[in-house]
Amino acid sequence: MSKYWSTVVRDLTPYVPGEQPKLANLIKLNTNENPYGPSPRVLEAIEHETSETLRLYPDPNAMRLKEAIAGYHGLSPQQVFVGNGSDEVLAHVFLALLKHERPVLFPDISYSFYPVYCALYGINHRAVPLTESFAIAVDDYRQANGGIIFPNPNAPTGCLLPLAEIERLLKDNEESVVVIDEAYIDFGGESAISLIDRHPNLLVVQTLSKSRALAGLRVGFAVGNAALIEALERVKNSFNSYPLDRLAIAGAVAAIADREYFEQICQAVIDSREALIRSLVELGFRVLPSKANFVFARHPAMDGAELARSLRDRGIIVRHFKLARIDQFLRITVGTDMQCDVLLAALREILHP
Ligand SMILES: Cc1ncc(COP(=O)(O)O)c(C=O)c1O
Repeated sequence: MSKYWSTVVRDLTPYVPGEQPKLANLIKLNTNENPYGPSPRVLEAIEHETSETLRLYPDPNAMRLKEAIAGYHGLSPQQVFVGNGSDEVLAHVFLALLKHERPVLFPDISYSFYPVYCALYGINHRAVPLTESFAIAVDDYRQANGGIIFPNPNAPTGCLLPLAEIERLLKDNEESVVVIDEAYIDFGGESAISLIDRHPNLLVVQTLSKSRALAGLRVGFAVGNAALIEALERVKNSFNSYPLDRLAIAGAVAAIADREYFEQICQAVIDSREALIRSLVELGFRVLPSKANFVFARHPAMDGAELARSLRDRGIIVRHFKLARIDQFLRITVGTDMQCDVLLAALREILHP
């Protein structure tokens, strides 16, 4: 606290990202990174771009990347917005499309950055409780709102809302923007991008951080009706003209182009997830159905925080949220099979000493 701070800053409670520890040899299953590296074609493209041209500003519109994303999803570049990670895209979404008199709605258990953006921009919001089984009940969103946003699959639960339910939500809320944050959609879900042409109020946000193993490059995007995209461009061009640098644009274009590698690592993560869920259930865990690259699980015989601490003592970090309804759960990122085996061995030791 300092007398030089603005009142906005004084009142902020910033988002706290998962820890990025400096210690070597940790098994890091706390921030849903991909355990595999990015496509070799991404590294080649970045190396190629690492040249004297770095003295020049990048394309402020990152048109090569917009064209690549549009081509991949059968859209036009005018339906694509790109940003410095999907967190930045989401920040612009809140300001450009979700700041209205009526409250923006999101689930009570959801991505914890959403209320932070609301506080930053002074956006009225209301949390809509998930059902007892941690599902999003679309009918609960039939109330006056200035927009709706949630991740699908939801985070940190991993639970997927079927596309038919999203379409029902869109039809129920034609007067407001519905944002589907698909950070984890490539691990077994069906994207709502196919609904864009029928629903001008739909915006889908995705990231290259998870399924394309590029959390370190910071590239995210939104796709939707051109009028929604224009709103995002207006905010972006009032904030930072060059959110994506030359290396990020080159790497992201290569990542989108290498579909084969992308499909291969997604399948590997899905296979490991299913094996991990089976083993956790055998150990007595309750595991929520996951279509993400993480699982959300609790053990009836051990406190969640204590379990997270005991794992950490053994060099394994997972995410624990001290929040109502979920403080007994651990969110565990799906690692390689070898990392999952080390995790399971540690859990056996902790639970059955
Ligand atoms: C639901 C959700 N949305 C968005 C993000 C942001 O991802 P990034 O900024 O790396 O694109 C995350 C990151 O963990 C997430 O869990």
